[in-house]
Amino acid sequence: MKAKFHQSAVLALLLGLVSQVRPEPVPEPIGPYNVGARRLVIDFVNPDDPTAPNNISTEYMATIYYPTEDAPGAPSPYVEPELAQMYADVYDFNISHLTTTVRWHASFLPKPAGPTIIFSPGGWGPPTDGSSILLADLASQGYVVAALDHPYEQPFLRYPNGTGLAGLPINFQYTEEFVYALHAVRVREMVHFAGYWPELVRRMCAPFETKRLGAFGISFGGSASLDAALESDAIGAAINLDGSIFGRAAANEPDSDIKKPTLLLAFWNHSPSTDGSWADFVARQSGWWRNIMVNGTVHADWSDMTFWKIWGTSRPMGTIDGRRMVQIRSAYVTAFFDEHLRGEDSPLMDEPAAEWPEVLISHRHL
Ligand SMILES: *[C@@H]1O[C@H](CO)[C@@H](O)[C@H](O)[C@H]1NC(C)=O
Ligand SMILES: *[C@@H]1O[C@H](CO)[C@@H](O)[C@H](O)[C@H]1NC(C)=O
Ligand SMILES: *[C@@H]1O[C@H](CO)[C@@H](O)[C@H](O)[C@H]1NC(C)=O
Ligand SMILES: *[C@@H]1O[C@H](CO)[C@@H](O)[C@H](O)[C@H]1NC(C)=O
Repeated sequence: MKAKFHQSAVLALLLGLVSQVRPEPVPEPIGPYNVGARRLVIDFVNPDDPTAPNNISTEYMATIYYPTEDAPGAPSPYVEPELAQMYADVYDFNISHLTTTVRWHASFLPKPAGPTIIFSPGGWGPPTDGSSILLADLASQGYVVAALDHPYEQPFLRYPNGTGLAGLPINFQYTEEFVYALHAVRVREMVHFAGYWPELVRRMCAPFETKRLGAFGISFGGSASLDAALESDAIGAAINLDGSIFGRAAANEPDSDIKKPTLLLAFWNHSPSTDGSWADFVARQSGWWRNIMVNGTVHADWSDMTFWKIWGTSRPMGTIDGRRMVQIRSAYVTAFFDEHLRGEDSPLMDEPAAEWPEVLISHRHL
């Protein structure tokens, strides 16, 4: 007990906290494994990048979350302090005291881990750290998650060498031309990673599965995930967490058919009936798909902001309890990948669940 108090006091100092704000852990991962993470910079020339110097980016960042048998790490800050400050300045979020026990550089399991799922964050924030509660939940259940962050776009990233990089402001106002160019950049990055993954796993000497990849993302990253599934044969299934769709998947052309299972997770009433890009998307899909919505949520509840809101914010958020939404999000994302990557049927994909009465399967195919 004494040792524990001492540890959190040291952490409070490390976090530079005023004495009355106590460190607060984010929800523990739900699965049987502890969670390790490693962060890598990946060389990749990406042209026509509206955010990069000279409009060409030369690298992106990948954070790999994976199951481990190592003990959880000591509590450490859940997001970079610079990022917490940006969300405090714009939306009065109070998240600098949140901590995670994800263990950096943990050892790999002595057996295969996976399937592997590529994750893409929202447009200009939050970066993948701001969905890490979900990403850790997946890793704790044996999945490997590769979370990709695009430099100069994400509001703040810290490279593995400690260098911080500021990108677009979190309340950036975009033009249509900008957003389509950036979408193409994101899709190229995901498709590149899907192709590069087997080589990277060999280089890391990691026991990670390199077949049966999944893709998912939130908002802008959810849209990019659908296009990545369209472009890459390596990706077998994709989830869009509540994003309007900008790419070829919503062009309503014959070649917009992904022909693979897809899931549209949504705030209440977000459906092909209310979002024209979703109507265009489903019009061409011949594969299995579902539109599943959650009562009491708004768009921002699909990132970890649903948990952040517990400590106050001036940003309008859904009425749903943040801890409960964290559980619902993990349950439905896991159920989809269990069914479509692991081949384990999940009733959550087909029937109302007594456990989650606020969830509705509103539109479906197959
Ligand atoms: C870079 O991208 C921006 C935003 O799309 C654009 O306004 C600018 O003209 C581009 N610059 C070059 C050199 O292509
Ligand atoms: C840190 O890594 C980034 C990404 O590779 C690189 O751009 C930057 O120059 C590095 N910083 C230092 C100080 O080496
Ligand atoms: C949504 O949640 C609210 C508040 O709990 C409840 O009053 C309402 O009946 C729910 N709506 C549906 C359609 O389930
Ligand atoms: C965030 O915390 C600060 C300091 O405790 C407090 O002054 C502020 O009101 C909080 N913001 C919100 C939106 O609750």
